[in-house]
Amino acid sequence: MTVTSSLRLADREQVLAHAAELVLDSWRAFDRARPGQPEPTARHRTLLDEPLPESGEDPRAALDLAAELLDASFSPARPRWFAYVGSSGLEIGVLADALAATHDVNVAIESGGGDLVERQAIDWLADFTGFGPADGLLSPGGTISNLTALTAARERALPGVRHDGCGGHRMALYCSAEAHYSVVRAAEVLGIGSRNVRALPLDGERRADPRACAKAIAADRRAGIVPVAVVATAGSTLTGAVDDLDALADVCAEHDVWLHVDGAYGLPAAATALAGARFAGLARADSATVDAHKWLYVPKACSVLLVRDAEALERTFAHREAYIPHSAVEHLHPVDRTLEYSRPLRALKLWLAFRVHGAAAIREAIERNLRQAQLLAELVERDPALEALHEPQLSALCFRHRACADGGDPRSERAAARTLALADAIRRDGRILLAAAEVDGVPCLRACVVNHRTTDEDVHALVDVVDELAEQLG
Ligand SMILES: Cc1ncc(COP(=O)(O)O)c(C=O)c1O
Repeated sequence: MTVTSSLRLADREQVLAHAAELVLDSWRAFDRARPGQPEPTARHRTLLDEPLPESGEDPRAALDLAAELLDASFSPARPRWFAYVGSSGLEIGVLADALAATHDVNVAIESGGGDLVERQAIDWLADFTGFGPADGLLSPGGTISNLTALTAARERALPGVRHDGCGGHRMALYCSAEAHYSVVRAAEVLGIGSRNVRALPLDGERRADPRACAKAIAADRRAGIVPVAVVATAGSTLTGAVDDLDALADVCAEHDVWLHVDGAYGLPAAATALAGARFAGLARADSATVDAHKWLYVPKACSVLLVRDAEALERTFAHREAYIPHSAVEHLHPVDRTLEYSRPLRALKLWLAFRVHGAAAIREAIERNLRQAQLLAELVERDPALEALHEPQLSALCFRHRACADGGDPRSERAAARTLALADAIRRDGRILLAAAEVDGVPCLRACVVNHRTTDEDVHALVDVVDELAEQLG
């Protein structure tokens, strides 16, 4: 007699059809903006206060409740989410996640087809962005990709540091004053120390100054401090600024320092005719981070670390354990190149996105977002109540509402409080989502267009809603 697990779904065909309906309903709802953001109801709160259920319920009812709760959650998949750097849940990526989770392949040990999919997704992304021949890995996010690259850079700068520890060596990192916090966090985790992150001054286009970088490296070397890596930002989180990669590559070549490019947000734009020139020099980098869950539209979490020299990863992470035997001395498992152990097949969603849509359609969607940021800049320029705080280099734009400063000092505490109140009113209103930010001490609103569902009409709505709510706040 065959014994089946009680955890197998009864009526699974019907349950799957029901789940598919819920997904389809959501996709249809995401096609257009909705008039507001529903809050969790009193009934939801009561249900979510219930103790651990000892026995189960009908999966269709449980899935319905899950869908209701998700509907009452802020979702960056919606076309008018302009806050932070969103991810937009590309439909084929959703299906890829379901399929990958079903097989639950672990790309820590050799998995056969899964390894080949990861390999090809890395090759395709390296080709798409112009990074050139690459090895690499998939990770849960830009934070972990940056940490992984900088761990390899530390091992190259101080061979044996993984075993011996820092042994009194002082180390330093060099990056834009507006680099993402994950760089500082990596310095903290790697024993470099956040005080040894040299925040390079910015030029008129908010790019790290390469001459200041060269000077800082030389000064550190004279003081006996080991330079670990220069981190160039290719699309800063705040304004989308792209550092001069060629000039920073020259500095790194001259001083023999690892060049890592943090393109978690911006690097997909390197594939476009509109913005590609900004990324000249990328092919000279030792490593680069690209979050496919940002501007390649696939669902979280899907970050790609591109690395020129796979052996640098192996020297950093490979190890031998009794519970994961190697078949030969030189034989390695995927885990021998990564910071993680158990890893889902994150590459599947990127691989399927490229296969199903083709590079041209993805490039076109990124170009549309670039043009929408230009459109937003034009609308802000035309609106006497608004002021842009920088030119959009990619798809992020910071702008302020003049009424927040009452015609006075835009850096005042009052302007800061009123800008936060406006951002809060926008969130409560729920038609669009924008976050508050600050550029050179000026409180502002920040919009970032990285969603393939966003239309030009949505960009117009953004400005209309900001004006309307600012007026209501007086
Ligand atoms: C430039 C940059 N680097 C790194 C990160 C961190 O990425 P994640 O949130 O995937 O860890 C972000 C996030 O917005 C980013 O914009």
